Amino acid sequence: MRTYLVTGGAGFIGSNYIHYMFKKYDNDIRIINVDALTYAGNLENLVDIENRDNYTFVKADICNKEAISKIFAENDIDRVVHFAAESHVDRSIKNPEVFVQTNVLGTAVMLNCAKAAWELPDGSFKEGKKFLHVSTDEVYGSLPDDENAFFYETTPYDPHSPYSASKASSDMLVKAYMDTYKFPANITNCSNNYGPYQFPEKLIPLIINNALSGKKLPVYGDGKNVRDWLFVEDHAKAIDMVQEQGRLFETYNIGGHNEKQNIEIINIIIETLQEMLPDNDPRKALVSKDLITYVEDRKGHDRRYAIAPDKIKKEVGWFPETMFAEGIKKTIAWFFEHEDWMKNVTSGDYQKYYNDMYEGK
Ligand code: NAD
Ligand code: TYD
Repeated sequence: MRTYLVTGGAGFIGSNYIHYMFKKYDNDIRIINVDALTYAGNLENLVDIENRDNYTFVKADICNKEAISKIFAENDIDRVVHFAAESHVDRSIKNPEVFVQTNVLGTAVMLNCAKAAWELPDGSFKEGKKFLHVSTDEVYGSLPDDENAFFYETTPYDPHSPYSASKASSDMLVKAYMDTYKFPANITNCSNNYGPYQFPEKLIPLIINNALSGKKLPVYGDGKNVRDWLFVEDHAKAIDMVQEQGRLFETYNIGGHNEKQNIEIINIIIETLQEMLPDNDPRKALVSKDLITYVEDRKGHDRRYAIAPDKIKKEVGWFPETMFAEGIKKTIAWFFEHEDWMKNVTSGDYQKYYNDMYEGK
């Protein structure tokens, strides 16, 4: 039975990945989820699997060397899937330091502990051990408004935000471990994810939540920045396929082939909400395009991201299965069914973040 150490499994993508893995492998794998439970980590995301015998949660910071090496010492870890990170660009603009701490130093600790646990006396590594580092397409910088321009695995790194700079640094560390020690790893760089359990600081859940409460829908700048939206379950599947079928030491870009301007996304969300809400639901009257409000642009706002996921399709056989029209319906349906989840995550600290972030915009 393979044992997985998943970092950041209480966050958005990590919790979707854990659900995907148990659905696929059931009792044939064991998962240890290590998460510090920052504002973005939420054990409510995992309630339906938390009592499984083959699942363990450990509350720990990935920067804590002792805690992480203890997990490796007490368990024969076969796979590391490293999601834990500070993940929000706007927060990185306000407070970059914690991004360096978690994303760079935390990744160094994860690499070092895995290397110490897996290395043999001759400097080679125990058979079959694999580390997958989850990163972002934002490390490649910004593309021009040209629909034929894409990020490839060979595109030079050119990060702009403190978030993408910290992720680029962590990618470089993983590359250094692969080059220096032949450390058995892969890097995946994915585009913008959306789907169940996403924290409403990111565009899609924020717009869904605000629209349902009749609150303003803040659009940064001219609303024409483009993102390539990837349904999170497709991403979870890609990560598993890369780890099992990809070539070690390789980078794979994972994209949704779903490029859209932010304003298009907002319009689709409003239209889909209006279509899906029953006539007798009082929220139906609140959802309106009149809520769209153009606000001051994000500092250093990257114009366009787009991935051509050709390598992963050719080598691993993965492609994005969920088109945006379908994925957004699934996402909205999930939010309808999980009103309490949204209420819980938007109480307390979220209100303070929201007021600080959008005050005056
Ligand atoms: P998230 O913010 O929803 O979750 C991050 C998780 O990491 C949380 O559970 C948090 O508690 C945990 N965490 C944070 N700091 C920690 C620390 N020091 N020690 C242990 N745990 C810690 O993030 P996400 O959207 O699920 O992103 C997961 C990964 O995917 C990140 O590495 C991110 O850079 C990458 N990524 C995300 C997207 C996206 O669209 N969300 C796109 C590309 C890449
Ligand atoms: P976001 O979800 O923060 O992801 P990222 O910055 O990592 O791409 O933002 C997606 C896009 O939406 C980005 O171009 C910024 C824009 N945006 C808004 O226009 N309004 C908002 O309130 C937010 C959060 C984002």
